[in-house]
Amino acid sequence: MSAWIIVGLQWGDEGKGKIADHIAKDADIVVRYQGGNNAGHTVVVGDKVYKFHLLPSGILQKKQVMLGAGMVINPQGLIQEIETAQKNFDSINAVIDPRAQVIMPYHILLDEVVETKSGVGNIGTTKRGIGPCYADKASRTGIRIEDIIDEKRLEEKLKEILPTKKAILEKVYGVQDTLKLEDLLKEYVEYGKKIKPFMGDVSLLLDNALRNNKKILFEGAQGTFLDNDFGTYPFVTSSHPLAAHALVGVGLGPNVIDKVIGIAKAYTTRVGSGPFITEMNGSLEEELRTKGNEFGTTTGRPRRVGWLDLVQLRTARRLNNVSEIALTKLDVLSGLKEIKICTGYHKGETCLHDLPATIQELGKCEPDYLTLPGFDFNANEIKNYYELPQSARKYVEFIEHELNVPIKLIGIGAERMQLIKKV
Ligand code: IMP
Repeated sequence: MSAWIIVGLQWGDEGKGKIADHIAKDADIVVRYQGGNNAGHTVVVGDKVYKFHLLPSGILQKKQVMLGAGMVINPQGLIQEIETAQKNFDSINAVIDPRAQVIMPYHILLDEVVETKSGVGNIGTTKRGIGPCYADKASRTGIRIEDIIDEKRLEEKLKEILPTKKAILEKVYGVQDTLKLEDLLKEYVEYGKKIKPFMGDVSLLLDNALRNNKKILFEGAQGTFLDNDFGTYPFVTSSHPLAAHALVGVGLGPNVIDKVIGIAKAYTTRVGSGPFITEMNGSLEEELRTKGNEFGTTTGRPRRVGWLDLVQLRTARRLNNVSEIALTKLDVLSGLKEIKICTGYHKGETCLHDLPATIQELGKCEPDYLTLPGFDFNANEIKNYYELPQSARKYVEFIEHELNVPIKLIGIGAERMQLIKKV
């Protein structure tokens, strides 16, 4: 291993945290390259449940962790996570790139009001201010980590930015906000003081690490179909979860990567609005939601649940050039008599094997299902791949065959140890 990327192949919540935790054992550095505290990963270690939103899962393996320039950071959330990690693991080794953007209170307010007002086109965001923060970055009116460690610079920037934000909130959305420059300045300068000791040039450090044969794991957040360009736009996030963006997000060139590990859940979930071709309805959806604990780590919202979609996964394989797959939560399907799997879409007489490029076309697609026999196993009794029931192995091998990518790891329970290697 020198540089591996972990990327979600669906709409996020594929169980990346658990796989990252497993792979991080062999890594020296674990780095995040996009998104912010809209993400959430849960790792169960014995009777402890760890939830992080900003720090990569590698923190649990006591590895050096880094937050790259492509991220948007809520400093209050970051400081809380650092303090929690310090309490649980004595000391932590974290580096935060000064180029990363800072989520400000007006970003969160704007995210909330836009979501509340937009009605039909409602995206169902996490209301963490992610979209407005990335919008400011693109408009060059963002506040970066480097700005909050310099009081004078922060004051100058806020003097310029804040009146516009207040005017938009008040005049466009009718929100009487209480944001005051002095308060913001005081609060963010304090955050800056706490973050300053962790600041470092992630691009430079990773380049040096690679030259010294260190192993780097890039931990993607969200998932392929939440990508701002290639996801189900506009029902997407504002960053680029795709594997190729990992390099842009930390400041390295593309040729350093030797493996892309795609993470797919054994079925599909989505939180928030937008098309979902294989969505289930009724009692089965409810049953799988409960069994799989399909509630957002960040917002607690119930996730929409559906069958596995091979059209989506084929497209994700292409978009990320996936080398191998980790299939998670197979145990959640255990007990079902039959399992449906979407092998293609049809649009009238036309059959599609890849996701159409436009959301209009996607809206006209219907799923074509193949029904496979179900399986039943007790995860506590399974120690290796061959102990899985034959029909469970058939399900795994069918996916592998259809995607033409090896499945190397299979998740069979929430516990850290409930992960088997497929040989
Ligand atoms: P935002 O990232 O908060 O702007 O939300 C945009 C869309 O991405 C919404 O549908 C969210 O539910 C979804 N989303 C954002 N982060 C995650 C995640 O970590 N897992 C799953 N969905 C997410």
